Amino acid sequence: MSKIIFIEHDGSQHIVEAESGESLMQCALNHRVPGIVGDCGGCCSCGTCHGYIDTHWQLAAGEQSDDERLMLDGADHEQPNSRLTCQIRMSPALDGIIVRLPPPL
Ligand code: FES
Repeated sequence: MSKIIFIEHDGSQHIVEAESGESLMQCALNHRVPGIVGDCGGCCSCGTCHGYIDTHWQLAAGEQSDDERLMLDGADHEQPNSRLTCQIRMSPALDGIIVRLPPPL
């Protein structure tokens, strides 16, 4: 088990345990983290799992796919470290990852 730290826009923290291979989005839903909705179930087509990956974990989180890049392009509150959390799978290299969340939709 690894840890994910979700930080809501208002600063509220949620520290959750995640299985390797589980998406960050699914883990957030399993633990009822506010701000991650996951409307499309992880198909990279809704953008409701938007989060910001802290610099330390960006390399380990992997590259964006073309589909993810297209979804995020022009999304509300897009930042250089924006990712769709459904597209990032947990691994031991991501233990302790910090995911900040944009303002609620
Ligand atoms: Fe829909 Fe991530 S859950 S894009």
